[in-house]
Amino acid sequence: MANYIAVSIAWTIDVRPMEVREIEETASKIISSLNKAIIGYEKELKLILVALLSNGHVLLEGVPGIAKTTAVKGLARLIGLDAVNEIEIDRIPYRGLSRVQCTPDLMPSDITGSLIYNPKDLKFEPRFGPIFSYILLADEINRAIPRTQSALLQAMQEREVTIGDRTYRLEYRDKGKFFFVLATQNPVEYEGTYPLPEAQLDRFLMRIVMEYPETLEEEKQILRLHMARLREPIEELDKVIDPDWIIAAQESIALNVKVPESTLEYITRGIRYTRPEMFEPLRDLLLLGASPRAGIYLMRAAKVHAALRGSEEVLPEDVDAVASAVLNHRLIPNPEKLVELRMSGETFTSSYRIAREAIEFALRTARKEL
Ligand SMILES: Nc1ncnc2c1ncn2[C@@H]1O[C@H](COP(=O)(O)OP(=O)(O)OP(=O)(O)O)[C@@H](O)[C@H]1O
Ligand SMILES: [Mg+2]
Repeated sequence: MANYIAVSIAWTIDVRPMEVREIEETASKIISSLNKAIIGYEKELKLILVALLSNGHVLLEGVPGIAKTTAVKGLARLIGLDAVNEIEIDRIPYRGLSRVQCTPDLMPSDITGSLIYNPKDLKFEPRFGPIFSYILLADEINRAIPRTQSALLQAMQEREVTIGDRTYRLEYRDKGKFFFVLATQNPVEYEGTYPLPEAQLDRFLMRIVMEYPETLEEEKQILRLHMARLREPIEELDKVIDPDWIIAAQESIALNVKVPESTLEYITRGIRYTRPEMFEPLRDLLLLGASPRAGIYLMRAAKVHAALRGSEEVLPEDVDAVASAVLNHRLIPNPEKLVELRMSGETFTSSYRIAREAIEFALRTARKEL
């Protein structure tokens, strides 16, 4: 028999008010714990936490072997979700952390679930797929066929899934159940992949690009960390928070962190200046700029960033810190510029670099006018 631990916990929480001070302290504990097991990437780890506390999903992009999976597992461990096989809410069993390896033969029902026949009771019963979890790691999402991708993206957006003729929720905020998807993608491989369509990329609050470690010293530290170990260092991390802390922090930030008029002006100008039809100087770089929806997400993420500094007021610096991750996958580069960069050797990162350049330019211009 499989080694199956059924941990059934009845979460009954009323979302308690939370001070930004507490959010700041706990968040920095989370980041510093993760940094014990993952060398470098402080900025990226913080962005992942910002996305989680904004109630958004993340597309993690990077070459193999740079701690993408490790970061997700580490985060799950700090929330005490990595070893949880089952938390039952409304008779739906949710896993703590599910991982799906995407391949071309992965069907939508392999993620969402299906009806199976129970010969004993002579009726069909739902078999809940891996999407019934708090944290879903969808590895190499661009290897799944478009039908499967769109089933996942739809569930991410709607936070519910239909199996047979019943619809099930993936999020129960009043019971501390959040739903967070991290999908990974390797930018180098194109063969046998199905790139996510631009229109669906924006289901992700952020695209976070992880590059190789910055310094030689960091590379050495990674080896030192693993020198006397066979196990993964993240397995030694202790739990820092419960899942319901996430919901309480999300709610408090949404309610209490304020965006002053000057920052609002900065965000809206920044967004408008990415639009080539409105702002001539960007025509070389972009074909399509940021939408009002992108602006909403930018504001939400900036609020969380402010809370992580322990502040109830969003400053332009908070916007700058999250802008590239929130906007880079929502802008469509000018194909001519793309070809030009690719010819010069920037094969894999060219679209990301163009987007970053455009975002920096738009924000710099907006900043001058404040
Ligand atoms: N910055 C780092 N700090 C500590 N360990 C690291 C770091 N980068 C990589 N490692 C180690 O390298 C191994 C590979 O990491 P991981 O499986 O997370 O990579 P990945 O990015 O998910 O790769 P893939 O795309 O192949 O799935 C792990 O043992 C991990 O602990
Ligand atoms: Mg991995």
